[in-house]
Order: sequence, then C-alpha cells, then structure tokens
Amino acid sequence: MASQPRASLEGRRLLLGVTGSIAAYKAAELIRLFKKAGAEVQVIMTPDATRFITPLTLGTLSEREVLVELFPENEPGSWTKHVHLGRWADLAVVAPATAQTLARLAHGFCDTMLAATLLSARCPVLLCPAMDHDMYHHPATQQNLEQLRRYGYEILPPEFGELASGLTGDGRLPDPERIVAHVAALLERQASLAGKHVLVTAGPTREMIDPVRCLTNPSTGTMGFALARAAARRGAHVTLISGPTLLPTPSGVTRINVTSAQEMYEATLQHAATADFIFMAAAVADYTPVQTAPSKLKKSADELVLRLRRTPDILAELGRRRRPDQVLVGFAMETDHAIANAREKLHRKNLDWIALNRLNEPGAGFGTGTNRLTLLHRSGLQEELPLLPKDEAAEVLLDRILAWQAQPAEP
Ligand SMILES: Cc1cc2nc3c(=O)[nH]c(=O)nc-3n(C[C@H](O)[C@H](O)[C@H](O)COP(=O)(O)O)c2cc1C
Repeated sequence: MASQPRASLEGRRLLLGVTGSIAAYKAAELIRLFKKAGAEVQVIMTPDATRFITPLTLGTLSEREVLVELFPENEPGSWTKHVHLGRWADLAVVAPATAQTLARLAHGFCDTMLAATLLSARCPVLLCPAMDHDMYHHPATQQNLEQLRRYGYEILPPEFGELASGLTGDGRLPDPERIVAHVAALLERQASLAGKHVLVTAGPTREMIDPVRCLTNPSTGTMGFALARAAARRGAHVTLISGPTLLPTPSGVTRINVTSAQEMYEATLQHAATADFIFMAAAVADYTPVQTAPSKLKKSADELVLRLRRTPDILAELGRRRRPDQVLVGFAMETDHAIANAREKLHRKNLDWIALNRLNEPGAGFGTGTNRLTLLHRSGLQEELPLLPKDEAAEVLLDRILAWQAQPAEP
C-alpha cells in the first residue's frame, strides 16, 4: 500500500495492542503519532510487554488507563470489557506483534486481555510482526501468518534491517510513520463497498463422466475467496458461488456451493441481477460429457472415446444481460499471446475489466498463495501488478476498480 505522508485519523477509535518484543519502545512514538493525527487510542499490553516498556509511559501518552490483566484484582465487574472494546474500536493494531501472540491468535487462544479482545473484535485488525529473522521465517510462524490472513487479519510484514540481536535480516518493526499511514489507508478502504452487493465465483467445476470420475482443473479457489474476503472487509454484502474446494468460508460472506458448470451458470445468473460488482474468478469447464454414465464405467476396451459438448458461457451471458451501472470483471488464464487473447475476451464478452493470470511464471497461477496479475480495462488501460500474496492482489484489484469508478464520467 502506498504510504501517505500526513494521515488524518480525526475522530477514529484505535485499539493498540503491545506485546513483549524489544521493539515495544516504538509503541510510545506510535501513540504520539496516532494522537497527533486526531485518533483516540486505547492501549492493551500483554503481561510480558510490561517487561519492555511501562504501562505508565503508554498510559500517559494515550491519556487512558492501559489494560493488561484479563482478571484485574480490583475490578470484579470488568470481565466483559474485552467484548465492549472490540466493538468500540474502528480498528485494532498490534505493534509490535510477537511470534507468541501470533501463535495465540492463529489458534484462537484467549488467555490474555489482548487475545480475548481481538477474538471478539468486529473491527479490522492489523498485525505488525516484529522478531528475529529466523523466528519470522520459521515454518510455524509463517503458517500462523497464513492462517491469520485466512481469518481476515491484515498483516504489515516486517522490514529488512538491523535487528536487536545484532544480526541483520527480516523482522524489524516498520517505522511508526509507516504504520500510521497503513492504518489510515486501511480505514479509508474499510467502508469503500458499504451497501454494495458483490458477487464472486471461485474454484473449479466438476463435470461427471460416471459416478466416480470427472473432468476438472487444478483451481483451488484461493483468488476468488481472497476477493470475497476483501470485499466483505470493505462492507459489501458478498455472495460467493464456489465450485468444489476445501477452503473455509470467509467471515461475513454468503456461500453457495455448486459442482458443475451448469449449476454455476444457474446460481450466478440467479444472483447477478442485484449485484453491483461481479467477479468471475472461477475456472469453469468449457466442455462437459454429452452423457454421464449412470454407473461406473468398466475398463474393458483399450480406448475410450468421450463425447463432449459446450457448457453455457456464463461470462458472455452476464455481458449480454448486464445493467449499465454494473461492473463486470473476468479472469483469464492464457498460455499463448496472453495479452492479445485477454483483450479480445474483454471486448467479446462486454466486460469492464479482465485480470490476466500468468500461468508460466514462478509464484503465479493455480494453487499458489501468490499471483502476478495484469489488469486490462476496456478503455485500453493496462497495468502489470507485481507478484503479491493473493489477498493483497485482491485488495489492489478492488482499489483500482473503485478508483476508476470514482473518476468523473466523460461528458
Ligand atoms: C530481550 C528479549 C527480546 C525479545 N524480543 C522479541 C521479539 O522482538 N519478538 C518476539 O516475537 N519475541 C521476542 N521475545 C520473546 C517474547 O518476549 C516471549 O515470547 C513472550 O512470551 C511474548 O509474550 P507476549 O506475546 O504475550 O507478549 C523477546 C524476549 C526477550 C527476553
């Protein structure tokens, strides 16, 4: 996300979680900058964080009592405070976030005031990991971060540089100015699809040959699920029509499961009429067997000829039926003449945007956590995005579409 020099956080309510990292001292400056930008800040520290910086310092800067204990001795009636705080805040940020706190949150543990508050929070949560290079790159930490992304947490990755251990590597907490700019940008995104209906298709389809065999493709649905999650986080009402995949339903999303291209066609057309934005990220089969055998085919002959027929073209049908105010976005996976083929599809199917996946590049395509997209708009605009985690690629795609929509219409 681009950094903004002087972010405004006027009237925003922020929860700041501080955990037991050597970078905890940076929380003091962070609070000062949040307050200067106009935010109210409620600090929650883990008990171990108080070994690094005192609640007195952070309480004085935030002008609010710092919360540490889940069971405070002198406040017997305060046990629901964590639930109220999670609803009070516009956004929660944990900076620095230790490996221990990431592990706690990734597994739903609720044994500190901070973890209990975040588990019940309804607001977006930004995690800013800070730790030693090897702790950060340990598969356990990376898997926890991946799980946290799937739960919808925002992650601001640490920077490369000099670490407290004296070593150099990844793990430095970004400067407080960068964290403040990131928080401001997240808050701006937060309501950008409020009141909108977003329809997303995702995953593969399965065309049954007989009861136990099918024609399908390697799509896992990750990109479509990332889009659904990102749209829901921005306040949209999201309908996700998913082919067979093991991915969990993103929170706040209405999921409809389908199997075949025909089922996806019917479910998509049923929900498309009310949609403001349609993202067709599913990898839909183009052909289906003319006949599905009622029982398992026996391997008797040396050759088996399958007769296939075309499935309905969902995108083309949406392009024909679209309302003028509807935004229609297709995805393309091309192996040859990628840009020319994607642009031709964009016009032939009457789309606004097409996101081209590069199948042949490392880190891009089916079943990867990352993607390298090229965005093409019907106006001729073309943008190559860098290799990004699919969640971030989804955010950038939404940012670009909304920025385009916000432009004044041509006279
Ligand atoms: C001097 C010192 C510095 C530490 N710095 C970090 C750190 O930067 N990141 C981290 O993940 N853990 C760090 N730790 C380990 C955590 O403090 C420890 O895992 C603690 O239990 C974290 O608990 P919390 O997440 O509840 O605050 C450090 C420990 C010590 C003794």
